Amino acid sequence: MEEKIISVAIDGPAAAGKSTVAKKVAQILGFTYIDTGAMYRAVTHAVIAKGLDPKSEEQSVTLLPGMIIDLKEDGRVLCNGEDVTKVIREPLVSGNVSYIAAMKPIRLALVDMQRAMAEKKSVVMDGRDIGTYVLPNAQVKIYQIASVETRAVRRYEENLEKGINTTLKDVENDVRNRDYIDSNRAFAPLKPAPDSVLIDTSFMSVDQAVEAVLKVVHDKTGIQIPCH
Ligand code: DC
Repeated sequence: MEEKIISVAIDGPAAAGKSTVAKKVAQILGFTYIDTGAMYRAVTHAVIAKGLDPKSEEQSVTLLPGMIIDLKEDGRVLCNGEDVTKVIREPLVSGNVSYIAAMKPIRLALVDMQRAMAEKKSVVMDGRDIGTYVLPNAQVKIYQIASVETRAVRRYEENLEKGINTTLKDVENDVRNRDYIDSNRAFAPLKPAPDSVLIDTSFMSVDQAVEAVLKVVHDKTGIQIPCH
């Protein structure tokens, strides 16, 4: 019997813990984790590294032809063969990625890649528009939120661990700014899909959030969740 391909879409605002939860859920289910934010970040880094203006669509789209973004199973992100895993988390990229993500030609190119990945295998894909635009037929759609304050503290602590130098105030400003731009852009803005399940992780541990997502996966698809 052919195995059924399942897509789990996890959307929500910046730093809501989507990637941490999505990674663990993917690991437990044996699905591939796809971090679509990393793809927008990789384009942003490429634009800045070339000395182009990330607020200029005319300049930024010139890098699209032939650009290859490779999300490795081990979590590394390669852009045209260069390992950009760490640099795409730097404040310079975080502060500019929402401008790049608002450009329709860039979104269309990355969405094509994302859909191609989800066609071949079962995925847990996190982003902003996965349930609403990229995979509207995903069997499982989660909208994961947390308060701005909680998100800022979590991202700040994550940055410290990764050796990225920021202040809590700067992280909170960045999170608010990105929420605003991501929610108000014209094309595929951040919003919950009508058939998504809301999970507020403000007062949840990572494990509790993972269990909440797995329960929705079971309820919506009927698959047995492996022991973990
Ligand atoms: O999830 P993240 O913070 O790494 O995402 C970086 C930026 O990319 C975020 O500010 C919005 C954008 N993004 C998007 O517009 N659509 C997606 N599917 C994923 C990310």
